Amino acid sequence: MSAIDRPSGQQTKTYDSAFLKACRREPVPHTPVWFMRQAGRSLPEYLKVREGIPMLESCMRPELVTEITLQPVRRHKVDAAIFFSDIVVPLKAIGVDLDIKPGVGPVVAEPIRTRADLDRLRTLTPDDVRYVTEAIGMLTGELGATPLIGFAGAPFTLASYLVEGGPSRNHEHTKALMHGDPELWADLLDRLADITAAFLKVQIEAGASAVQLFDSWVGALAPADYRRSVMPASAKVFRAVEEYGVPRIHFGVGTGELLGLMGEAGADVVGVDWRVPLDEAARRVGPGKALQGNLDPAVLFAGTEAVETKTREVLDSAAGLEGHVFNLGHGVLPTTDPDALTRLVEYVHTNTAR
Ligand code: CP3
Repeated sequence: MSAIDRPSGQQTKTYDSAFLKACRREPVPHTPVWFMRQAGRSLPEYLKVREGIPMLESCMRPELVTEITLQPVRRHKVDAAIFFSDIVVPLKAIGVDLDIKPGVGPVVAEPIRTRADLDRLRTLTPDDVRYVTEAIGMLTGELGATPLIGFAGAPFTLASYLVEGGPSRNHEHTKALMHGDPELWADLLDRLADITAAFLKVQIEAGASAVQLFDSWVGALAPADYRRSVMPASAKVFRAVEEYGVPRIHFGVGTGELLGLMGEAGADVVGVDWRVPLDEAARRVGPGKALQGNLDPAVLFAGTEAVETKTREVLDSAAGLEGHVFNLGHGVLPTTDPDALTRLVEYVHTNTAR
């Protein structure tokens, strides 16, 4: 489907959903809501089906992926589903030796730091991730009109895990490579852009109606470094999926100073964390893009009244936007009360109904 074609038949309802309309900056019946990390440890039904199954293995079982992806849609009545997977799944699929350690995150056995190491990053083909195609096929059948968001990790955030060997506070090895060997860095990011683009294409071709590029840790960079050393690779990813005409969301944490550039990289929707009010974010991003965000996920621990007050602030600050998708400023924290999330969805729907 191209950007200008409207779909026909059963896809029409999905195309006309509040979520996809908001991404396209069209009028909506209510502000759509979904949550990053809506599937996961905040849900008892998730913990139950995941029992005894390692994270990466669970991503490779289409029936389990389908069930976990649907759980928050059933429970919270969110306006979109996000595909249950992880940003390191495509790296694992091309043979990188890595694991996701509970309570830690992705850990890479042999970090990538030299030119010879780059050979371990081959191109991803649809055959490497057949379980993704299969799961999305099952999901789109079950979801009906609810859109499915596909996603991938952006080149910088993936590079950070690969170069550091695991989660990092200061990204010192990553920045050492970026500044110390710019050519090797550019080649690394370019390869990651190709892998990421291929992973997103698989998801769109299987039926994802939108994609989100997670550059979770890129807020660690100054704007000039982002523009020079990261933006070309992220822009390559966005260009690679442009022909499908599905909304492209770009999100990072602590990216207040980067919001304009992250839009410029090729996003249709810019995700904003809780540090910048949405009206100010809109000034930084400029016209022609929708915004997504941005309630502080920790506010959900403060009780219903406080959640409503802070949500009202987000909605007020979004009042003049061309398009707004309500979300948290980062993922749902694992100990969040799921009922607080359900109430929040209802609050946003009721208070934005037009
Ligand atoms: O509902 C959803 O959002 C869908 C699933 C999803 C997961 N990871 C599942 C997951 C998504 C969108 C991601 C993306 C992801 N993974 C990001 C970008 C989003 C962000 O939070 O900024 C990043 C940085 C990762 C890497 C990663 N994987 C981390 C930091 C962790 C947490 C480690 C921990 O245990 O605290 C993971 C593991 C992971 N990915 C879990 C889930 C549900 C937890 C593992 C489990 O439940 O056993």
